[in-house]
Amino acid sequence: MSGELASAQSLRGRDLLSAADLRPDEVRRVFATAAALKAEFVVARRHADPPLVRRTLAMLFERPSLRTRVTFEAGMLQLGGGAIQLTSGNVGWGERESVADVARNLQGFVDAIVIRTGHHQIAVELAAAADIPVINALTLHEHPCQALADVFTLGETFGRLDGLVVAFVGDGNNVFHSLALVAAGQGAVVRLAHPPGYAPDAAIVERATALAAAAGGALEIGHDPRAAVDGADVIYTDAWTSMGQEAEADERRTAFAAFQVNEGLCAVAGQGVRVMHCLPAHRGEEITSEVMDGPRSLIFQQSENRLHVQKGLLVELLGDPAG
Ligand code: CP
Ligand code: NVA
Repeated sequence: MSGELASAQSLRGRDLLSAADLRPDEVRRVFATAAALKAEFVVARRHADPPLVRRTLAMLFERPSLRTRVTFEAGMLQLGGGAIQLTSGNVGWGERESVADVARNLQGFVDAIVIRTGHHQIAVELAAAADIPVINALTLHEHPCQALADVFTLGETFGRLDGLVVAFVGDGNNVFHSLALVAAGQGAVVRLAHPPGYAPDAAIVERATALAAAAGGALEIGHDPRAAVDGADVIYTDAWTSMGQEAEADERRTAFAAFQVNEGLCAVAGQGVRVMHCLPAHRGEEITSEVMDGPRSLIFQQSENRLHVQKGLLVELLGDPAG
């Protein structure tokens, strides 16, 4: 364990609602645990000494999910525990019983709760009522697990985060919010090009700017995709319409038409540029198949790292303290 890791406080029992809930040194601690788990798992496809034997996770999903749901469930199994998948249809949180009552029941049954809901406030209420860790698996405001996996992927690809230029092209949305917080905290230069009217939340911008200033990075926001990607190491994009915004899809398709990540935009960035997308992708809208399936793409590496990084997070939040 490095000096920094040894001095970082245990993350046991903590919630992860916002990417800013973990300090930059705590993010690195999760990354170190994830890297060790990944190194063992990619070789052996199992852990010789699983750290979360018989520990349990309840997963409340009121929105569709492939990556987040499967990586949490498979991850818990691989760590020696298990996960129970619930939907709003069978629990009825906020309708059949209050969110706080759901929390007070679940904390007697399981060791942690993962929640995906449109309303960030529901996740906040759940965490306030539960005395076990609550992990945000995506709200319309943030997607912290995605950002942890993404920044981990950047570190393993480039071997550094300090000064890395990450250009997000598209909506100032949940994925951008969490990415900006984690990447800025690690000293990256985070740029965003968004159409007018699709700016990120001002409080997130303020927080990410402060994190960047402390870590030697920067946050730069504008409206020109070509200016944003000029000199970038990475171009990141996400769906133009997030879950819950379907009624705005046509309007958004028009607003974002000039924000597609394609070969032309990659050429502005330069030869070595890599491309990221959290998935699911809308091929031919925010990204072309040529870029997605081409040699620049880190997209499926990002997806795989959801498994390893969330396992690292679970071990940090639920595992027995070392020693
Ligand atoms: N990127 C991501 O969170 O994917 P899912 O919506 O499939 O979980
Ligand atoms: N911004 C997207 C991310 C999906 C993983 C959404 O919220 O739908």
